[in-house]
Amino acid sequence: MKSKSFLPDLSIAALFVVAHIFVSSCALKQGQICVDDINCDAGLHCQRCGTNSNAQSRCARNQPFNPTSKVKGLPFNRYSWLTTHNSFSLLGAKPAIGSTLLAPRNQEDSITSQFNNGVRGLMLDMYDFENDIWLCHSFGGKCYNVTAFQPAINVLKEVQVFLEANPTEIVTIFIEDYVSSPQGLTKVFNAAGLRKYWFPVSRMPKNGADWPTVDDMVQQNQRLVVFTSKSNKEASEGIAYEWAYIVENQYGSVGLEAGTCTNREESSPMNAKTRSLVLQNNFPDNPNSDQACAYNSKTLIGMMNSCYEAAGKRWPNFIAVDFYKRSDGGGTPEALDIANGHLTCGCANIAYCKANATFGTCDIPVASPASAPTAAAATDFSVASSTTSFHLQWLFSTLSLVVFLSQRV
Ligand SMILES: *[C@@H]1O[C@H](CO)[C@@H](O)[C@H](O)[C@H]1NC(C)=O
Ligand SMILES: *[C@@H]1O[C@H](CO)[C@@H](O)[C@H](O)[C@H]1NC(C)=O
Repeated sequence: MKSKSFLPDLSIAALFVVAHIFVSSCALKQGQICVDDINCDAGLHCQRCGTNSNAQSRCARNQPFNPTSKVKGLPFNRYSWLTTHNSFSLLGAKPAIGSTLLAPRNQEDSITSQFNNGVRGLMLDMYDFENDIWLCHSFGGKCYNVTAFQPAINVLKEVQVFLEANPTEIVTIFIEDYVSSPQGLTKVFNAAGLRKYWFPVSRMPKNGADWPTVDDMVQQNQRLVVFTSKSNKEASEGIAYEWAYIVENQYGSVGLEAGTCTNREESSPMNAKTRSLVLQNNFPDNPNSDQACAYNSKTLIGMMNSCYEAAGKRWPNFIAVDFYKRSDGGGTPEALDIANGHLTCGCANIAYCKANATFGTCDIPVASPASAPTAAAATDFSVASSTTSFHLQWLFSTLSLVVFLSQRV
């Protein structure tokens, strides 16, 4: 009697365990509720979004499609590049000088890790400090011990290592420039070994024409595009004055007002077609990872559409955010994929671009759009997987089995 009923129970329990492991370890799609990274499909990580402690973690995108993965060889201004605001201002950063670092934080992983997740634009605040050039998140144009992150050369060397190891990749740096020491920026870029990648100001289009193609930039090894916020550096050091080439919307909380997209003070109006590049800022005044999660989720694509209209029907070439991986689903990577779809192949998402097809010929999947562009097929980068949590899953499942069986006998 007993043994007769035990066997079916065992197989039901085993099914339960297998189902549990299957569902929780590999099947969860973008936006689905999860416990740990290992639960989510490739290209996704598990993240809680929002300040509400009851908010549940969901599988969220880590990285966009590589902009050049579908349609290659277009002008540089026909792609959209993932950009991190205050890329150096990291959550885990320790004081580099003195004993306290009080500055707000905008990101959470190293520049190298950002590159590995597809970031191609860096916003760096550079200051004269300690007889060197430092990255500081400061105020009043001066760097202090409590606002100093690290010497700029450290991060610039990470850029050099990435460009060296990835001979077809292009990186753009936006300098919020507080450096007044003579040739200060030139010296630090040279010391980092970045001169040989320099894209010269003389090749930047001045009247809204197309940029050279990405293929041309790669062939000539001019793969580092640098902009400064100080206009005089273009003449004195050959560093491009940002707003001679780019229109940019208002940064900070004011810039996040739904339905509007106005230029920041230094920029020409968004619809100025004499500037070939469009930059979209999408971050509040006070950085915060939970808030960033919300702004990168619902707000970003709406803001992108507003800025598209404001910019004379132009999609952003750079999308700048805080905590770029944080969202409740597609987040910043999805916004990039949408922009790159429109820019490179005339489709609503880069995932729908068809190889060698006429502009506007799209491969729209029949399945629901919610699960459409997982990054798995798109990128070279693997999800950080956690063996430990997989083992915990096993442990939990085995314990469930034991409990299940003990209740039955
Ligand atoms: C900044 O840190 C340096 C090195 O620790 C120290 O010598 C200096 O006194 C500090 N400056 C201030 C204003 O605290
Ligand atoms: C697209 O065109 C390139 C260059 O002409 C060619 O090498 C490639 O095989 C084509 N791809 C497809 C899918 O037709």
